[in-house]
Amino acid sequence: MAIIRRGRESDMPALRDIINHYITESVVTFEMVEMSLENRKTWFTQFTKDGRYQLMVAELDDKVVGYAASLRFHQRPAYAPSVMTSIYLHPEQTGKGIGEKVYSILIEELKKVDDVHRVYGLVVLPNPSSEKLHEKLGFQVAGLLHEGGFKFGKYHDVRMYEHRLGK
Ligand SMILES: CC(C)(COP(=O)(O)OP(=O)(O)OC[C@H]1O[C@@H](n2cnc3c(N)ncnc32)[C@H](O)[C@@H]1OP(=O)(O)O)[C@@H](O)C(=O)NCCC(=O)NCCS
Repeated sequence: MAIIRRGRESDMPALRDIINHYITESVVTFEMVEMSLENRKTWFTQFTKDGRYQLMVAELDDKVVGYAASLRFHQRPAYAPSVMTSIYLHPEQTGKGIGEKVYSILIEELKKVDDVHRVYGLVVLPNPSSEKLHEKLGFQVAGLLHEGGFKFGKYHDVRMYEHRLGK
């Protein structure tokens, strides 16, 4: 059974490999260029245990198989109490409930943070498992970015989900 814990710097090679798979093989992320280990190590420095930006990882049989993170939503300062999430599992570990486990723990942690008011999940459509997961965890549909991104020669719609954290 997967265990969920906070991310560590030593998880970065595994997380880099997971995100790079989706960067090169799919439109679920709008990142276009593969991440280096240095990039992931820098990315890791933003996370704390009790702040706006947190990282939870899922571990199965001593291997890191996925993560859920809260990240800066927008650079304009009044958006600071809103965070954006990111969730990716190793492609062989999807559909087993691990996504629900790691994402729900991240949301529970964010509920404890006074500085976080809204959580946004941006889902490139269609993505049935991600859509289902957001709805199951209490996100509401906040809007649609019609053809909001262009990847692999096509425009893609993006659904914005909002979690109010009971606030
Ligand atoms: C999206 C993702 C995080 C979901 O995590 P997961 O562990 O695969 O999902 P879970 O097993 O927890 O399932 C969540 C729900 O979605 C449902 N679901 C899973 N795959 C599905 C599919 N292909 N179609 C419809 N529903 C699906 C599950 O049945 C479950 O609902 P239920 O409990 O009512 O049965 C994971 O699949 C993933 O990493 N996908 C690739 C990367 C990605 O798309 N990330 C999200 C970007 S927004």
